[in-house]
Amino acid sequence: MSTSRVQIFDTTLRDGEQSPGASLNIDEKVEIARQLERLGVDVIEAGFPISSPGDFEAVRRVAAAVADTITVCGLTRAVAKDIDVAWDALKGAARPRIHTGLGVSESHLKYKLKKTREEALEIGIAAVKHARALGCPDVEYFTEDSGRADPEYLYRVIEAVIKAGATVINVPDTTGYMSPEEYGALFAGILNHVPGSENVILSAHCHNDLGMATANALAAVKAGARQIECTINGIGERAGNTSLEEVVMALYTRADVYGLSTGIRTEEIYKTSRMVSTMTGILVQPNKAIVGANAFAHSSGIHQDGVLKERSTYEIIDPKTVGILESKIILSARSGRAGVRHRLSELGHKFANEDEFEKVYTRFLSVADNKKVVYDEDLDAIVSDEMTTVPQTYELVQVQVSCGDQAIPTATVKLRHENRAVLMDADTGNGPVDAIYRAINRIVGVPNDLIEYTVQSVTEGIDAMADVTIRIKADGHMIYTGHAAHTDIFVASTKAYLQALNKQIARSGGRVQPERVLEHV
Ligand code: KIV
Ligand code: ZN
Repeated sequence: MSTSRVQIFDTTLRDGEQSPGASLNIDEKVEIARQLERLGVDVIEAGFPISSPGDFEAVRRVAAAVADTITVCGLTRAVAKDIDVAWDALKGAARPRIHTGLGVSESHLKYKLKKTREEALEIGIAAVKHARALGCPDVEYFTEDSGRADPEYLYRVIEAVIKAGATVINVPDTTGYMSPEEYGALFAGILNHVPGSENVILSAHCHNDLGMATANALAAVKAGARQIECTINGIGERAGNTSLEEVVMALYTRADVYGLSTGIRTEEIYKTSRMVSTMTGILVQPNKAIVGANAFAHSSGIHQDGVLKERSTYEIIDPKTVGILESKIILSARSGRAGVRHRLSELGHKFANEDEFEKVYTRFLSVADNKKVVYDEDLDAIVSDEMTTVPQTYELVQVQVSCGDQAIPTATVKLRHENRAVLMDADTGNGPVDAIYRAINRIVGVPNDLIEYTVQSVTEGIDAMADVTIRIKADGHMIYTGHAAHTDIFVASTKAYLQALNKQIARSGGRVQPERVLEHV
């Protein structure tokens, strides 16, 4: 059939649901079918009605639920009873399609079907005739394991079933064995050798055992196929099926190569992918093309700089085209100044001069060294930590704690005083933070009461930043707060306390305990 429009046949609810562990209930199938309708697929294969009462009901409900522009299809073996049951499930659809067929490779004929070529051919013809005789206007015939079949026999089967009334011929590479060149040549061969093949839709159905399902489907359409059978997120038997989002976006992005269009509303792709992943419980691999979490994420400094200057430098698809709001700049130890500056400004942080930004960037790098990814909350904490304007009377040089279920919590602290002297002291406490604060008190010697200590994890995970906030009371009524974030909770606790103490000293003055001086700088 010569047209530039490729039909998208979605089999998420049938071949996709054959993925190990992916079982959907009837309501979920109907919800996914409604989303497939919004996505703009042409055909929904809703199930295999004879296989269970649940599958029958799902096909019946989907047939009734979706718009009358969509073809709803049910799978059958080439067995009259299967076809009768499928027809019962489908007949409420505005556009019903029965999808029937039989194996064509030697191994299918000999081991699975135990039939001769001739016997199998007759069974296939009878199945198509039966479906048409029931009144089904649209019958798709699959020649299972076409990829390993003798092409001459395949041609004969296809010619015969077209004569029997098949409207669509599905040529599956059931085992994902073919190369794109071979699969494309198979379709070209069918169009050249099978009379009548020009009047039906030839369909590509590929499995991904060698990671070539998308490439194979594209080779087929290049050679004349006008329907692609695919699933959302590429789920399906074993390594899965051709992924809908990949073929659709390949046809869209490389229209210059293929010159073919689909009816897919690409902005619905991401939403559909999320829905299928959530409902089936099958996670999408992060580096999956188009819909993976990293598909539009940029991690290295060079890439971030390029994308921020001009998105197309490192992106061939605008993420909005597939319904993803924006590209992601992943801030990590590999990020450069451009990426960090951009994110900080998006978060509303302004810097009076380059020195201020450099301070934050240097701190960012030291946080990034301890964490895989630096999140927005981490950045906020870094900025509030670094941009405080309190005079740094005491600065942390080193803190070391020793604790455990059988140990007496002990802390040693080294502080720098006004860039002039390094002071050190140690103490024990009820816990490691108490020990740190007592050791600091021995050095700083300004009396106060700790009235609040809270610690929060800024982001998720074992490598999260600890965000410590403390309040101290001094001089009878004055309250001073301190706040610091660090991947080490003891460092964050020490810095938060020092910040509060520096505020107290700035207001009321402090004195150095001379006996604590370790060295003069
Ligand atoms: O992979 C295959 O051959 C199939 C058919 C049942 C269409 O899924
Ligand atoms: Zn399949």
